[in-house]
Amino acid sequence: MNQIVNKEQLNPTVTLMEIDAPLIAKKAEPGQFIILRVDENGERIPLTIADYNREKGTITIIFQIVGATTEALNHLQTGDYIHDFAGPLGKATETDGLKKVAVVGGGVGCAIAYPITKKLHELGCEVHSIVGFRNRELVILEEEFKKASSKLVLMTDDGSHGEKGLVTDALKQLIEDGNQYDAVITIGPLIMMKFVCNLTKTYNIKTIASMNPIMIDGTGMCGGCRLSVGGKTQFACVDGPDFDGHEIDFDEAITRSLIYKPFEREAHEALCNLYQMEVK
Ligand code: FAD
Ligand code: FES
Ligand code: MG
Repeated sequence: MNQIVNKEQLNPTVTLMEIDAPLIAKKAEPGQFIILRVDENGERIPLTIADYNREKGTITIIFQIVGATTEALNHLQTGDYIHDFAGPLGKATETDGLKKVAVVGGGVGCAIAYPITKKLHELGCEVHSIVGFRNRELVILEEEFKKASSKLVLMTDDGSHGEKGLVTDALKQLIEDGNQYDAVITIGPLIMMKFVCNLTKTYNIKTIASMNPIMIDGTGMCGGCRLSVGGKTQFACVDGPDFDGHEIDFDEAITRSLIYKPFEREAHEALCNLYQMEVK
């Protein structure tokens, strides 16, 4: 059992929680994740380690309320306990030799992009962050990205904050302006990462995509998180979650991500009935 020591609502659907987890905080690195269960009957869900404090022994998670488990997690308050909290899992993001990087994040993917942006900045790397949201209300971590980046370009689909357009428009512009990146790191919806990777392939820029398939055990045993990368099967929980974006079969990943939708909808409706909430 791990205690929630702080809870903040970052926007109407995104919550930050700081969790007491000294053993995980001791070893955590950007790019890694935890798997939690809200209660003893709960399903296991993976969430990225958005930040860690080795002195305080805490881990920060930032999650979007999208279904039954994230809804149940959001009902816990500061002082409450999370039943299981396991990690750090997965491989840390490779930062060796990177001097100039573009980090491209979309939506809640920015919570996953932030710790790697911060680490690269601390290592003295020139980081250009391009973060995209549907609208102003959904923007998260703007100040944090500003502090951790040499340049921040904030995009919204409707132009209600920052610049209007897609993150790929901003990335293309920066590349066309003559910025030579050692790598592009992209984290967000699968469709966004697919188009970022298609773009960088035309400029031959190494691109790392942080993948988020369905995970169950998180130890490479169940096969639930499998992906095709360079024609080979890889397990995102142990071989990733970072992979060479130009080698990932995104179309297969998108198809696989949709197969449990009817079950997820049913579970969310059951939970909303339990809490007497409106189903979104
Ligand atoms: P459901 O209604 O059950 O599912 C909604 C959608 O969430 C699904 O369509 C699917 O795309 C995804 N999902 C559902 N179950 C799982 C599962 N067991 N594993 C992976 N994805 C699932 N989300 C965040 O908001 N913040 C993060 O920092 C974050 N980090 C992640 C890191 C990794 C390595 C992975 C694989 C996923 C991450 N996610 C993150 C996604 C998060 O796990 C899902 O949003 C969550 O599991 C949804 O659960 P639910 O029951 O509320 O929603
Ligand atoms: Fe089971 Fe990766 S989650 S193999
Ligand atoms: Mg679920």
